[in-house]
Amino acid sequence: MDEIKSIDTSEIKKRLKGYFVEKDLYYQKKVDSTNTIARNLVSKGAKNGSVVIADCQEKGRGRNGKIWTSPCGCNIYMSIILRPKFNPEAAQGMTILAAVSVADAIAEIASLKPQIKWPNDVLIGTKKVSGILTEMSTQNMNIEYIIVGIGMNVNTEEEDINDNIRDIATSLLIESKKINGQTDPIDRNKLIASILNKFDKYYEMFLSTGLSSILHNYQKYFDMMGKTIRINIKDKDVEGQVVGIDSKGALLLKTGENKLEKVISGEIYF
Ligand code: BTN
Repeated sequence: MDEIKSIDTSEIKKRLKGYFVEKDLYYQKKVDSTNTIARNLVSKGAKNGSVVIADCQEKGRGRNGKIWTSPCGCNIYMSIILRPKFNPEAAQGMTILAAVSVADAIAEIASLKPQIKWPNDVLIGTKKVSGILTEMSTQNMNIEYIIVGIGMNVNTEEEDINDNIRDIATSLLIESKKINGQTDPIDRNKLIASILNKFDKYYEMFLSTGLSSILHNYQKYFDMMGKTIRINIKDKDVEGQVVGIDSKGALLLKTGENKLEKVISGEIYF
């Protein structure tokens, strides 16, 4: 089996096609959290489209206060800095946009078939390979920054997945071995460049025509239609059947009383 290639920003840069993702890539081997580094860079004037990448994180953060396990030398931890002029209400769309970008990149580089669990978990089969943590700061109803943090288990081996998440987490390499018989590690530089190129493309589309054009691509990976789910919204469990996603990216649920619930955020259980 080949060695895992190091992250190399020149390898990433030479693959970038877009105009929006500035060539400002900040790489550090070990950080607390790329989202925290990104926030510090914003206060020093980092530009829209700057990207922070790390080889490992000592305090990787997940959604809802969870820890994002971030070992060295095998995975992707990155944060995209956005300083847009649109309304804060539209910011939820960035998570949708990132999820589609990640799913597209996995299909392109790893030849796997990803699925999206609303709003932003990317799965292979039933197990999670990637998560997105979007953080925003506003001032006087204007967006100061949005930081889109993307974590992806790329080359983690089966035995290195923590016991407590073994049933729900996987990596691209584990799935590639199972599904494609591919045992060589996946090149993180190619994967990062692909995510950024996709993000770039979807961001342009978002600015010119809004989220609806991207939702079409989101639906390709969305495997929840018609399923009955339980969702925890502000400590309350709501059960219902998934009937769609609206033009702002909210999940549409038909609940027991034939009521249509619009869910903006929450933790889903099947
Ligand atoms: C989730 O809970 O699914 C979201 C996980 C997000 C993890 C990424 S890794 C890069 C960035 N930095 C962090 O501390 N978290 C995000």
